[in-house]
Amino acid sequence: MADKKEQVKPLAPAAYRITIHDDHAASVPLEFATRRHRKCIKCCGCSAAVLLILVMMIIILMFTVFRVKDPVLKMNSVKIDGLSLLYSSNTGFHPGLNLTFVADVSIKNPNVASFKFDNTTTFVYYDGAVVGEVKSPAGKARARRTLRMNVTVDVAVEKVVGTERFKSDFDAGIFPVSTYTRISGKVKITDMIKRSVVVKMNCTMNVNMSSQGVQDRNCKRRVSL
Ligand SMILES: *[C@@H]1O[C@H](CO)[C@@H](O)[C@H](O)[C@H]1NC(C)=O
Ligand SMILES: *[C@@H]1O[C@H](CO)[C@@H](O)[C@H](O)[C@H]1NC(C)=O
Ligand SMILES: *[C@@H]1O[C@H](CO)[C@@H](O)[C@H](O)[C@H]1NC(C)=O
Ligand SMILES: *[C@@H]1O[C@H](CO)[C@@H](O)[C@H](O)[C@H]1NC(C)=O
Ligand SMILES: *[C@@H]1O[C@H](CO)[C@@H](O)[C@H](O)[C@H]1NC(C)=O
Repeated sequence: MADKKEQVKPLAPAAYRITIHDDHAASVPLEFATRRHRKCIKCCGCSAAVLLILVMMIIILMFTVFRVKDPVLKMNSVKIDGLSLLYSSNTGFHPGLNLTFVADVSIKNPNVASFKFDNTTTFVYYDGAVVGEVKSPAGKARARRTLRMNVTVDVAVEKVVGTERFKSDFDAGIFPVSTYTRISGKVKITDMIKRSVVVKMNCTMNVNMSSQGVQDRNCKRRVSL
């Protein structure tokens, strides 16, 4: 009875256990050996079940928490600086002045790891042509956070004025403008679970000369993997 207790005790130093084996190995009854064998089978079954549960848990986690989800790009607001200088009833029209397009953009990252992105490119289009382009620096949207940033694009006023539809839009006081933003990056949850993500957003809007604001903003998001 005392011997059995000693053998089960897991923390017993190896050397001590060996001494016990040396003394009693020969006298271990056959019945005890088979019981130990049965115990081993039971133990193996138990380990297999635990392993199975563990594998299932990992698979479930891979499809839920550790699955790479798409970041969401959103344009919160837009304003155009320099519109009041471009035209006023007192001074007339000044096409040489700078016009800047400022978009308040947020990147929502639903992942458990950060979304690291490279250069962000934003284009501003008028009458189907690029009238402004900006590359914003690389950055990082932290795990389960929303990164907010201002994207400032200088608009080439001479390009706007040079288009065919400028005259009619100017008379109407409404300029239809569209933007395209592209952010490419990577979400790395573990060395095995990582994915490159490209988030794109197209927006259309109208610039109202009399209110000097932007109205009818409509954005479409798209993510490619
Ligand atoms: C317009 O932008 C250019 C280039 O960024 C700059 O050199 C110039 O001073 C700006 N003009 C005004 C009136 O802000
Ligand atoms: C980001 O911009 C820098 C400077 O313009 C350029 O050298 C680099 O290649 C760009 N990286 C990517 C991934 O486009
Ligand atoms: C963006 O610009 C607005 C005003 O122009 C400012 O209030 C806001 O703090 C800026 N946001 C960021 C993230 O820089
Ligand atoms: C967004 O705009 C770009 C450039 O104008 C175009 O190639 C792309 O098809 C547009 N994507 C969507 C989803 O509208
Ligand atoms: C432009 O803004 C003015 C002033 O806010 C408004 O009265 C007018 O209806 C707007 N124009 C259009 C086409 O919505």
